[in-house]
Amino acid sequence: MDIKESIESVRRQFRSDSDPFPSDKDSLENLKIKFLGRKGLIANLFSQIPNLSNDQKPIAGKLLNHLKIELENSFPSDTESAFPLEEKIDRSLPGVTYPPGNKHPIQSTMDEIKRLFGQIGFAVAYGPEIDDDFHNFSALNFPKDHPARDMQDTFFTKEDLILRTHTSNVQVHLMEEKQPPLRYIVPGRVYRNESISFKSFCLFHQVEGIYIDKNVTFSDLKGTLEYFVKKMFGSKTKMRFRPSFFPFTEPSAEVDIWSEKNNQWLEILGSGMVDPQVFKAVNVDNNLWNGFAFGMGVERICMLQYEIDDIRLLYQNDVRFLEQF
Ligand code: DAH
Repeated sequence: MDIKESIESVRRQFRSDSDPFPSDKDSLENLKIKFLGRKGLIANLFSQIPNLSNDQKPIAGKLLNHLKIELENSFPSDTESAFPLEEKIDRSLPGVTYPPGNKHPIQSTMDEIKRLFGQIGFAVAYGPEIDDDFHNFSALNFPKDHPARDMQDTFFTKEDLILRTHTSNVQVHLMEEKQPPLRYIVPGRVYRNESISFKSFCLFHQVEGIYIDKNVTFSDLKGTLEYFVKKMFGSKTKMRFRPSFFPFTEPSAEVDIWSEKNNQWLEILGSGMVDPQVFKAVNVDNNLWNGFAFGMGVERICMLQYEIDDIRLLYQNDVRFLEQF
């Protein structure tokens, strides 16, 4: 066949192959390769040129170049953008799932504590995490330079402010701001400059309780905490009040619960009758009012409830850990 005819025949073939024009990327690529590929029909025609007579060579070359350009121009210059969405969605891939979030175990424990005290009339109050020495220590009867302050390794900020070491600072704010009777629990974060280990972290949560009224007795305190412990850990839980010391309560007691699993008593909270020195610091008349206070570590209770043995797990935000709750 004459070369000119061969060129015309390839042109006709392209016209028929490209009608209709491919509507997806793969057939477009195939069409392109068939005609313009390294071993395609155009390349094949070019390879015949050296065999032509010298006067035919330039004519055939020109015709062939025309055809090549014509074909090249029939294709979109950028296949990617010619079929953008079609190509980027792979419908065979498994879908992306968005697992529903769930409550952090610390939050669940704190919510349960709030709920239980809510049922016996305690409202929820919050207070500052950055506070002054007066509210965190002095008003709570920690004398300056008293070793009791060393019990809590404090983070200091500029300008004599500290990160509160306990939620007891909010007792002071509440008594300053409101007239008794008061019946509040105070959930919140507290900070201590402690070395981090399986049982202590620089940040944790406490729930403080404060009850101020007329004629509040130690037995009211015991009844309230007994209610809480039995509801929180089960009605058969064995508990004991153990004499203790806190600067802001007198007398003071710690509450332990018996752990069958560990075969030992575990301390879960501190408590006591509000010390007259605290009332004095906030100008509450101690002849008229008295009350009790208590404070518990949320992580500790949470770890007991869910049998978690390392406090750091609660702060790593590892989904493999969190999704178990
Ligand atoms: N603030 C104490 C602590 O962080 C806990 C505490 C003990 C709070 C006795 C109280 C209390 O209100 O009466 O260790």
